[in-house]
Amino acid sequence: MSLFSKKDIVNYIDKDIEVEIFDKIDSTNTESLRQLKKGLIKDYKIILAYEQTNGRGRIGRNFYSTKDNGIYMSIIIPYNDINPLALTAKAAVSVAKSLEDIIDEKIYIKWVNDLIVDDKKICGILTEGFINYKTDKLSNIIIGIGINLNNKNYFIPKDLENIIKPIDFDKNIDFSKIIADIFNDIILDYDFLEYYRDNSYVWNKEIYYIKGDKKIYAKAIDIAKDGSLIIINTQGETVKLNTGEISIRKL
Ligand code: BTN
Repeated sequence: MSLFSKKDIVNYIDKDIEVEIFDKIDSTNTESLRQLKKGLIKDYKIILAYEQTNGRGRIGRNFYSTKDNGIYMSIIIPYNDINPLALTAKAAVSVAKSLEDIIDEKIYIKWVNDLIVDDKKICGILTEGFINYKTDKLSNIIIGIGINLNNKNYFIPKDLENIIKPIDFDKNIDFSKIIADIFNDIILDYDFLEYYRDNSYVWNKEIYYIKGDKKIYAKAIDIAKDGSLIIINTQGETVKLNTGEISIRKL
């Protein structure tokens, strides 16, 4: 029995869009880029796989994607002036909301788009842009979402044990509905920032980020409308972060 099906996903989605599921593929984001290059995607599309052989994470990392042990999906969105950083933040909100019913603990969002439960990551998001080579302009945004599930023979590599927390698998969960809910929420026009701020993992924690070859320590004070993180660093300067990653300092 597959975790999700095209028929069910299409049924639950509020818009008439294309959904494609691969049994096995290198990466749904890479496949999205390939199809965009060939001009095969004209509108919104969702590409999913039951297994990825080369799942990609941010900053060149791998994303662990074994068969039936996760939802590996890419949502391709025509670019319409929405700030990609804000869209990435909104995607984190959409995924968190879709998982609330199946996870008892609070789901936090670590800027910009990691979902955290019990101080471990349950979902990663890799947003990529596609530039149309004819116009030299950004034409599509790909939101790649990876959610790990503790299903058959799930195995966490030793180095990820303290970082990843797979969601406990239950055969009664309707994963097709979760996938459709994520999409339906992402395309909905509403103020997602309130949820983002209320569920942010960064408040009252010491954070750091890397600038050049330096570690800069700081405290987060707000999340701006465009998705940037506003911080005060130890020199007392207010800085707006809109790229890169932050880490939480373990005290
Ligand atoms: C991260 O945590 O750094 C981001 C992980 C994103 C993983 C998803 S799985 C579906 C899509 N295809 C990929 O190759 N990556 C994203």
